[in-house]
Amino acid sequence: MATLKLGVLVSGSGTNLQAILDAVRDGILDAQLRIVISNKPGVQALERARIAGVPTMVLSHRDYPSRDAFDQALVEQLQANGVHWVVLAGFMRVLTPGFLSAFERRVINIHPALLPSFPGVHAQKQAFDYGVKIAGCTVHLVDGGVDTGPIIAQRAVPVLDDDDEQRLAGRILEQEHQVFVEVLRWISQDRLRIVTSPEGGRPRVILSPP
Ligand code: GRF
Repeated sequence: MATLKLGVLVSGSGTNLQAILDAVRDGILDAQLRIVISNKPGVQALERARIAGVPTMVLSHRDYPSRDAFDQALVEQLQANGVHWVVLAGFMRVLTPGFLSAFERRVINIHPALLPSFPGVHAQKQAFDYGVKIAGCTVHLVDGGVDTGPIIAQRAVPVLDDDDEQRLAGRILEQEHQVFVEVLRWISQDRLRIVTSPEGGRPRVILSPP
C-alpha cells in the first residue's frame, strides 16, 4: 500500500494535527505530511508542524480578492507539494466547488458534534446548551455545505450531570484525536468505499474489511 500523501489545513491550536503527527512518528499511520497550510499567521498548529519537521505555509484569505482566488492558491500549493488527500484539522473556512473538484472526494474534516446535529461553529456549546445526553464527534468527507458531507465515522461522548462546556469539549477532543487517526489509517489502507443506492439519496461511506 502506498504511503498516504497528506496536506493539512489549519487555523488554530492544532491538537488534531498533533495527533496525526504523533501517529506518523510512532508508525501507527503510514502517511507523509507534505505540507501544513494555515490561513492565519502565528497559530500554534504551525509551530507543531515545524517542530515535527513538516513544511509550513501561511496563506491568508485576506490577501485574496475572492474565495475562489484564495482556494485556487491553496490548490496550487497543495498540488505543488504532491498532496493526494487533504485533511481539514480545525480549518475555519468553507471550501469552494473549485477546490473540491481539484481533490474530489479526497478532503476530510473533523467536527466536534454528532452530525447532522449542531453543524457550524461552537458545536460543543450548541450541544451542551441544548441539553443533549450524548455528544460526540464526526469525521466526514467534505462537500460544498457546512459540515454536510458523507459521514465516515463518529464517536459518542456521554454528557455528565456535573459537566460544564469546557470539560465536555475536552473529552470530545480526546475522541477526535483517536477517530481522526483511525479514519486516516482506513484511508491509507484503501478501505473506504462510497456507495449510493439505486433509489438515489445521500451517498454512504462503507468500511471494507482489511
Ligand atoms: C476541533 O474541535 C475540531 O473538531 C474543529 O476545530 C477544532 C480544532 O482543534 N473542527 P485543534 O486545532 O485540532 O486543536
